Amino acid sequence: MKAMISATARYLPEKIITNADLEKIVDTNDEWIRTRTGISERRMVAPGQATADMGTRAVQKILDKTGISPDEIDIIILATITPDLPFPATAALIQNNLGAKNAWGFDLSGACTGFLYALEAGAKFVESGKYSKVIVIGADTMSAILNYEDRNTCILFGDGAGAVLLEPSEDDSGIIDAKLHIDGNGAQFLYMPAGGSLKPTSHETVANKEHYVIQDGQAVFKVAAKGMADVSLEILERNNFSGSDVKLFIPHQANKRIIDVSARRCGFTEEQVVLNIGKYGNTTGATIPIGIDESVENGRLVKGDLLLLAAFGAGYTWGSTLIRW
Ligand code: COA
Repeated sequence: MKAMISATARYLPEKIITNADLEKIVDTNDEWIRTRTGISERRMVAPGQATADMGTRAVQKILDKTGISPDEIDIIILATITPDLPFPATAALIQNNLGAKNAWGFDLSGACTGFLYALEAGAKFVESGKYSKVIVIGADTMSAILNYEDRNTCILFGDGAGAVLLEPSEDDSGIIDAKLHIDGNGAQFLYMPAGGSLKPTSHETVANKEHYVIQDGQAVFKVAAKGMADVSLEILERNNFSGSDVKLFIPHQANKRIIDVSARRCGFTEEQVVLNIGKYGNTTGATIPIGIDESVENGRLVKGDLLLLAAFGAGYTWGSTLIRW
């Protein structure tokens, strides 16, 4: 039995931060940001709003669209690196907001690949035959962990959420394969130094600005471009497909130039590649489900299409998922 994505939704906060807005707070400019990353603007949560709120709104849209009641949800899996609280799980807060009284769930930390990890986990629960309605969310409030004095990182990220419903497939559609990786050798190049059990929050960690994203952009760029391209090709080849079989490629949106490398390696045309980084920046766990939902909404993705997802992120984590829509 295969698991299929039977419904999708997204939530983006209303507030838009343009490149011009960032020019006012760090030494950067619109031209540099657009040509180096492809980003023109990104979204930011309202005061008091965070990951649980965005995730809840995305799932609520799925319930509204499908008419499914909250008590039918079996599991809520949330991919995030920006939980509302260190504990309990933000999935619990979302469960409570929704009133999903028969669900269990958990948070999963896979950074930019988090949604693909969560999708694989969710698919296996459905394939087991024990669960039939699994909600998979990718949501991140990156503005909470960005140093708006660091032009290397604050221009890259945005806030947002996307969600999908997984159900048993009754035909050929569904998740065909996933190839996922993790390699902690990359931890030193993209991380948050403090606030965990190794270096708990103290006056010193706050004064040293250790509660923000630290990134060696060039180091990450090189491995991300190669990693995402390699794994995308590998999953196509091992399932006997080539680039021309794919209707849509929805890659993680970290940098347009990284996406271009994967698209070239797989031989994709512009029409095959979903690109929304210009509007939202890198929303970490949320980029892929946002891209899926937009593609469904605008008719780029229809039943029977072959869909390829790919991501690369902190960890390092990376992977690719192949779906018959
Ligand atoms: N505005 C203007 N100039 C900037 C800048 C900014 N926001 N950020 C960096 N620069 C400067 C640098 O200081 C450097 O100046 P110098 O040559 O005088 O030292 C110059 O621009 C080039 O910097 P560099 O880091 O080589 O740029 P880059 O082409 O590698 O682009 C990133 C930087 C961060 C956009 C790019 O490396 C990247 O996207 N990395 C991967 C990030 C990523 O995907 N992370 C998420 C995980 S998937």
